Amino acid sequence: MNSSPIIVALDFSTREEALALARTLPPDRCRVKVGFELFVAAGPALIDALHELGFEVFLDLKFHDIPNTVASVCRVAAGLGVWMLNVHASGGRRMIGAAREAVDATAHRPHLIAVTVLTSLGAMDLAEVGIAASPQEQVLKLAALARQAGADGVVCSAREAASLRAANGEGFLLVTPGIRPAGAGGGDDQRRVMTPAEAIVAGSDFLVVGRPITQAASPVDALNEVLVSLGCH
Ligand code: C5P
Repeated sequence: MNSSPIIVALDFSTREEALALARTLPPDRCRVKVGFELFVAAGPALIDALHELGFEVFLDLKFHDIPNTVASVCRVAAGLGVWMLNVHASGGRRMIGAAREAVDATAHRPHLIAVTVLTSLGAMDLAEVGIAASPQEQVLKLAALARQAGADGVVCSAREAASLRAANGEGFLLVTPGIRPAGAGGGDDQRRVMTPAEAIVAGSDFLVVGRPITQAASPVDALNEVLVSLGCH
């Protein structure tokens, strides 16, 4: 049983790079995330290869379409044996519910996670697409909708974790990117970051960590440092 809260984002453009990195990591001490770029480049065969290495996989493709189409793709994704997949909460109650039903009908039943408001969107961006609420209000609203419609949790900033935990209770999974280990310094495009320990204290269940591990001189050492900072040995 893998009790690690760390999900390593395999943000690579080729199968070879992704597998070369994955082979250096212990699959019982982390999980891996496959997003658009890598999945479009390497496809389901890469998911199989990661499973053969012993990893559980978060398929981060943020499905958003009519309920029937989303249900179909969730069924196929669950059939790949992934551990977690996600949909956009803004697809609405029926879309999330259709994803829930589809996932529940599979043998594997991966965690179904919803994306609320993309962190790239500010109040002005929301206003332009007809949403008067602030990003924070919209996150809380969509998270509640996602939970009611059957999602197991949401992707969220660590800064939103405490209010989402308070509003949605224990057991609702909070999956948090924007993590930078203490002393990692800035220098990349993430701005509102938290350390792994801060994010866990704020209520996150899983931490998505990309470059601090994948671009480290020794990814396995970087992973172990994060785990030690969390008291995981
Ligand atoms: O390299 P880094 O740790 O910034 O990678 C974070 C990962 O989490 C990337 O795969 C990125 O796309 C994803 N992500 C994010 N912020 C969000 C949602 C997802 O950084 N709001």
